[in-house]
Amino acid sequence: MNEPTLMEKIVSLAKRRGFIFPGSEIYGGFSGFWDYGPLGIELKNNIKQLWWRTFVQERDDMHGLDAAIVMNPRAWEASGHVAGFADPMENGMQFNTMFRMPVGAGEEVTTAYLRPETAGGIFLNFKNVADSMHPKLPFGIAQIGKAFRNEIAPRDFIFRAREFEQMEVEYFVRPAEWEGAFEEWRSQMHAYAEAIGLPASSLHELEVPENERAHYSKRTIDFEFDYPFGRKELWGLAYRGDFDLSAHEVGSGASLAYQDEENKEKLTPHVIEPSLGVDRTILAILASAYREDEQNGEMRTYLALAPRIAPVKAMVAPLLKNKPELVEKAKEVRSMLRSTLPNTVIAWDDNGNIGKRYRRQDEIGTPFCITIDFDTLGEDATLKDTVTLRHRDTGEQERLAISDLSAHLRLAIQ
Ligand code: GAP
Repeated sequence: MNEPTLMEKIVSLAKRRGFIFPGSEIYGGFSGFWDYGPLGIELKNNIKQLWWRTFVQERDDMHGLDAAIVMNPRAWEASGHVAGFADPMENGMQFNTMFRMPVGAGEEVTTAYLRPETAGGIFLNFKNVADSMHPKLPFGIAQIGKAFRNEIAPRDFIFRAREFEQMEVEYFVRPAEWEGAFEEWRSQMHAYAEAIGLPASSLHELEVPENERAHYSKRTIDFEFDYPFGRKELWGLAYRGDFDLSAHEVGSGASLAYQDEENKEKLTPHVIEPSLGVDRTILAILASAYREDEQNGEMRTYLALAPRIAPVKAMVAPLLKNKPELVEKAKEVRSMLRSTLPNTVIAWDDNGNIGKRYRRQDEIGTPFCITIDFDTLGEDATLKDTVTLRHRDTGEQERLAISDLSAHLRLAIQ
């Protein structure tokens, strides 16, 4: 039998270890739909939380939003999606990839759509955010949420799905200032890639030529990634001009001009849009973190995940599970870590020998394993209240005081 490909290994690990399952699997699956399991949701949440913290909470010029997935269908007519959001089929016919969705009953039924990009809800709330938060230009609105596209050929695991998630910013600027903002977001996207552990050498920019850009875009850079199946789009950065706000002004009849209170100026801002697919990000992370090596004469598989996004931050265990004094101490350490490191998963695994436990944690990318042994209890008085901290990538172990553990881990995972 042939050696499995890297993609096959990733898909298999993702399922076996509870990251990602085929959607509706017991019914034979459903093409283009995937379910995130217990570890997948932790990884996903870490990626989204880091994005939210970086681009919303730690900035004064950004505001968050969670708009409804289903919008008045007139909005998608105005934005050009009803006419233009289409892919060519094999016979050359254009196929609109927006999912239709009946809303209401009987004669009252309206055909709405599942949003194909989260951006739409941001433009519809531009005025609400401006009127409630009174931001000064330039400012941005950020949203994380599901998007849906009836892709003709879903493929490559979670790369091209029919239901996926986006992290999007619409950054509103004075028209003359678009280039500076575009460059700023371009470097922010590289910084975020680095923060989540994507190797810079696998990330490439592609200036998208005019005839291949989306109907709303005046300039687009695709951030491409070297996936195991080739170099493909990971994220996009687009300059949408005033296309959307102007189109929704026409479509809705509402004024979406920005009123500058200081110099009494009224204008329609232009928009820079960094758009990041969560699922493609996860696939890029899994592909670049997957490693196989030999440790202590044994083959092992591990995920070299950046500690800040790893689903499980640390595993705590007693050296032997049948020694109540070790178990009790280990439980104490674990609950101490749980309370000092909130919003993290601190796992427990006392099954089998210690080598097996390490392998299991390596395979899911847990950066640290903490073992409580007899020295922790004071068998060697000089080591009382210390533990063994083992590092995933190197397998190296060090002795650390329990009182230093939280600070040590916090530094590594922040
Ligand atoms: N608002 C801009 C926009 O939606 P896009 O290039 O069509 O632009 C943005 O999509 C990002 O969303 C892509 O770079 C990709 O990360 C993700 N994405 C798009 N279609 C996808 C699909 N079918 N499956 C998974 N992710 C997808």
